[in-house]
Amino acid sequence: MAESNSITTRSLGTASEGIKDQYADGKAAKVWQIFIGDKKSRTQNYKNFLVGLLKQRGCKRILDVACGTGIDSIMLLEEGFEVVSVDASDKMLKYALKERWNRRKEAAFDKWIIEEANWVNLYDDIEDVVGNGFDAVICLGNSFAHLLDNFGDQREQVKALMNFEKCVKPGGLLLIDHRNYDDIMDTGRTASKCIYYNSQHTTDIKTSVLYVGGRPVLVTLDYLIDISSADDEKRDYINEDSISEFRLSYYPHRLKVFKEMLRKSFGENAEFKLYGDFKPLNEIDVPDFYIHVVEKSRTVF
Ligand SMILES: C[S@@+](CC[C@H](N)C(=O)[O-])C[C@H]1O[C@@H](n2cnc3c(N)ncnc32)[C@H](O)[C@@H]1O
Repeated sequence: MAESNSITTRSLGTASEGIKDQYADGKAAKVWQIFIGDKKSRTQNYKNFLVGLLKQRGCKRILDVACGTGIDSIMLLEEGFEVVSVDASDKMLKYALKERWNRRKEAAFDKWIIEEANWVNLYDDIEDVVGNGFDAVICLGNSFAHLLDNFGDQREQVKALMNFEKCVKPGGLLLIDHRNYDDIMDTGRTASKCIYYNSQHTTDIKTSVLYVGGRPVLVTLDYLIDISSADDEKRDYINEDSISEFRLSYYPHRLKVFKEMLRKSFGENAEFKLYGDFKPLNEIDVPDFYIHVVEKSRTVF
């Protein structure tokens, strides 16, 4: 946990123009594998939950809409799922594409489809691979919160969720998560170790909150990663500096409002379940992450 800042302004300013690739400078992409920690210990945290749920529901074809460097997609491919992965950042996709190339002799990796796409135009961009819809769409790792509220009415976030809905087949699932921004807003702090990011190298996350007209609209996290003791294979990607810093910004989703957006996008006949750090809510006091599981209605209106 680290110190926090809060900034108050009357408008969102220049940062509100367009949808930016926050990973475009390549800084986060370079150290992402170190930040997320040992792949096994990270995936173990949610492997049982995610793989268990997908298998129990008979899901076979999965769309990972925020694949980043490919961590979740690769785990699912290794578990026997058919995976299509998309992301808006070519700097992040570069690492997924490299893994695909290195493992192209494995049938699952040879069939792995990776596309560059933005959630706001997602359905139009990948319509040809959607077919009758995916058994499940996943958007994990606090990714969705990268989509800011550029117009002050959350219209792009709703549009993105509606695109996810169009990619799910009737009776299929959406799994989407976000950090516990209610708690971040209340405490001004962000946990540096959590269910996804448990690297021994993350030393600090500094939290800044931007308020516009008294409303929190942007949380900026400054990550400080000490890579001096990272193993050589991972250090090969990085320069000699032992401390790596990168900054990412997020929209602070309030749980109540996020649930309403999901209802708006999937309709009242969908089924909505909520977990905290992959556990039922009654088993966890203050989760770092909320994970929403939405089952799309089988009835098409
Ligand atoms: C926090 S990373 C998570 C990646 C991966 N799921 C993980 O947990 O390691 C978030 C990813 O979301 C992607 N992203 C952000 N906004 C996006 C958008 N509007 N459309 C598509 N991808 C987006 C970023 O490029 C980035 O790779």
